[in-house]
Amino acid sequence: MVLTAAPETATRGEKDRLLQEAVRVLLRNWHGYATVPSRSLYPHQWSWDSAFIALGLQHISAARAATELLSLFGAQWADGRIPQIAFNPAVPDDAYFPGPSVWRSSAIDGHPPIATSGIIQPPLHAVAVASIVQQMDDPGLGFAERAYRCLIDQNAYIRDRRTVAGGLAVLVHPWETGLDNSPAWDHPLAAVPADLSLFDTYTRRDVAHAGAGERPTDQDYARYIRLMLRYRDHGYDDDWVRAKAEFLVVDPAFNALWAWSQLALAEMARRLGRDDSEHLSEAARVTEAMVDQLWSEERALFLARDARSGRLQPERTVAGLIPLVLPGLPPAVVDSLVATATGEAFRIGTPDVHGVPSFDLTDVRHEPRRYWRGPTWLNTTWLVARGLQVHGHQQLAQRLDDDLVGLVAKSGFREYFHPRTGRGHGTRSFSWSAALLIHVLAESD
Ligand code: GLC
Repeated sequence: MVLTAAPETATRGEKDRLLQEAVRVLLRNWHGYATVPSRSLYPHQWSWDSAFIALGLQHISAARAATELLSLFGAQWADGRIPQIAFNPAVPDDAYFPGPSVWRSSAIDGHPPIATSGIIQPPLHAVAVASIVQQMDDPGLGFAERAYRCLIDQNAYIRDRRTVAGGLAVLVHPWETGLDNSPAWDHPLAAVPADLSLFDTYTRRDVAHAGAGERPTDQDYARYIRLMLRYRDHGYDDDWVRAKAEFLVVDPAFNALWAWSQLALAEMARRLGRDDSEHLSEAARVTEAMVDQLWSEERALFLARDARSGRLQPERTVAGLIPLVLPGLPPAVVDSLVATATGEAFRIGTPDVHGVPSFDLTDVRHEPRRYWRGPTWLNTTWLVARGLQVHGHQQLAQRLDDDLVGLVAKSGFREYFHPRTGRGHGTRSFSWSAALLIHVLAESD
């Protein structure tokens, strides 16, 4: 395949200007012990955002990157779960919906000292910690020890409380996937009643900060709220939820990041003088289970499985490419994934597409401006680029990194981008867009 150069490859001067702006975004979004994804739309600390943010922050200050993650680990529950949101007590309850008074985490035994949501997000934290520890030399070992213990508990929670038959992790809410309104959830979500009268009691805050055409619909939002209220009303009990949830999915991106985090933990274990063998065998086990249970020969992609019906969901989404981060994939699977990534569904590396679209360009449901139903996001683009690098596709990986920089140069630190025009959408001054720009430029120097 012939790669065309990214049309908007930035010059050195422009890169320096973008770096300065990115640092400013992260400093403005820092609230004393952690970084908000966006001051307007997301005024608290989000779990996987903090992992992406720490990857960028480490190039400004490794200590600040460590603080970002330790603050999040401070919100870890006694059962090991690292919650999707750690609420900032200084922010009014109604600044974000659903806020602390809706989640009611303080009613749970073993709740952390601050209010949190009760669901989880993709476990990218070990990868971020391992990267920071590499920069820290000896003084980093105190941080490494503390973080390692929290990460072990996080992994034990996923393994013991969140797996289903077959040994893969299962998610109980679309927000747990990080790709909230992905078309892969349309079918499983259809089984969840959408009660619009919920909005007599609750008010969506997100549509005040971004256009309704760029956010999930009211129907989907009503389903999200119903799912969270039911889990909450059963004390966030995972035995209950695995048996009775109206939404239960096995997601390839979450499981891939879980396996990847085991490889990062193995690296940390070696650095801390511990045995790495358990982490390595967990990574191999999850990788194998994914190939066994989520790989589709027909779609040439990893697919999500609805754990209630047992059916694979046919939608081709960026989540299906993220397993590329795993070095243990069979070579034939890697080849097929690269063919799918460069083929009609995603068209990466071609002049008419920027980054990796979140959803199949050929599907009638593709919406280039709506959240996870088409736009390019920088975090998933970065993950696919790392995966391509793992498997020796340096040129294609470089092209995605150039696209990441080019999108920011063209449209600023937006939350997501139109995959064909590169125009920015969603909120502005978005932290992980800034952090990943810093990280990509630092790694390429
Ligand atoms: C949205 C995204 C999610 C992210 C959060 C905060 O909900 O879908 O992945 O963590 O915003 O940025």
